[in-house]
Amino acid sequence: MTDNNIAFTQTKDHLDTFAPRLLDWFAINGRHDLPWQQHLTDTPNPYIVWLSEVMLQQTQVTTVLPYFARFMDSFPTVQDLATAEWNTVAEHWAGLGYYARARNLHKGAKQLVAVINETGDFPQTLAGWEAIAGVGPSTAGAIMAMGLHRYGVICDGNVKRVLTRWAAIEGDITKSATTKELWALAERLTPIENSGLFAQAMMDMGATLCTRRKPACPLCPLQNDCLAHAQNREEDYPVKAKKQPKPSKFSNALLIQNVDGEILWLQRPDSGIWGGLWSLPLEFIEKVSDNVKGKTTTKQTDILDEKPLEVASNEKVYEAEFTTAEQIINAWLNKNNLVATPINKTLLDDAPIKHSLTHFHWYLTPQSLILNNEQSQALTEALQAAEININWLNAADAQATLGLPRAMVKILE
Ligand code: ADE
Ligand code: SF4
Repeated sequence: MTDNNIAFTQTKDHLDTFAPRLLDWFAINGRHDLPWQQHLTDTPNPYIVWLSEVMLQQTQVTTVLPYFARFMDSFPTVQDLATAEWNTVAEHWAGLGYYARARNLHKGAKQLVAVINETGDFPQTLAGWEAIAGVGPSTAGAIMAMGLHRYGVICDGNVKRVLTRWAAIEGDITKSATTKELWALAERLTPIENSGLFAQAMMDMGATLCTRRKPACPLCPLQNDCLAHAQNREEDYPVKAKKQPKPSKFSNALLIQNVDGEILWLQRPDSGIWGGLWSLPLEFIEKVSDNVKGKTTTKQTDILDEKPLEVASNEKVYEAEFTTAEQIINAWLNKNNLVATPINKTLLDDAPIKHSLTHFHWYLTPQSLILNNEQSQALTEALQAAEININWLNAADAQATLGLPRAMVKILE
């Protein structure tokens, strides 16, 4: 990408002094004790930077810290991660959210080991890193700069917030023209030497000073020429198109127990939501559009008069919304005239558990059903006949040994 056709809104002097000012601030006020940082060593470990950057993509530093420690403990090298069972990786990731990242991490580890076996080392180019699952241009730039001490440019959400403010960039950051402008500016500002320090300093600035709300401008090394600050309009940036309202989906979460009090767990198919993780069997009820004006819906009854988008009685919807395992369970329950019932309302609020995902809000209502020995045996056989991975485990053992998505942990709690 060239700078030639981008007109920057800042003067040459401001552009040229950006990096030295930021690096001076970082040397004194930046974070230097994060466990994945490699700027104090001459022999950086790209595995550590890759792993931590993937974890930090949508998750804050304080949340990532204990997860990162456990990953490094269990998988000290990329080979350890690549040869680990998926269930072990999922269990280490459980609770961090955005599970596609965990699947990419496992896949990426295998890809990296293949590169290492072929070339003797980690990828050494930007394109080499971008070819790894889950690594986009900014993560690849971070690994080049911080993990290999080569030249690399980052332009993630934090950087975009700092730069749109400093240069008063009014374009919608979800538009490709604005993305291009921001990458060009990030490249213009990144020093050829020390791009790793610069990347870490930009991340620290965005996370600790130029925060989404109430940035700490008086402490900022860029405040003298920050165009948003000059107009007292910091929080007007970055400009981002309003999100589409999300539809709401309602499902029952079936706590099917055997006589020993063990609960039936299903491993989700690899594709789709919570791919490869373990879940209670879910029973889809309906999906409704979110046109309740400005109101946050917490109960199904609040929006029963809303137009349903999808209902389970439609065969196509049934096929799409029930996994094979859930279809088998649904059919088996119907055949045996068994119905799960709400959990004792004196013990549990009857409001469903709300879980928000990228494309919809999910309202999960726990329902309980206890099977006798003969029934749990029959259901187990029906599922095993279809080669479904199942487990009967009590709540504590499931939490300890299975990779459960956060929503499942919420239900168990
Ligand atoms: N966010 C993304 N990468 C980071 C890093 N290396 N340090 C702190 N916050 C980050
Ligand atoms: Fe962000 Fe304020 Fe610094 Fe501008 S002056 S870059 S708004 S912290």
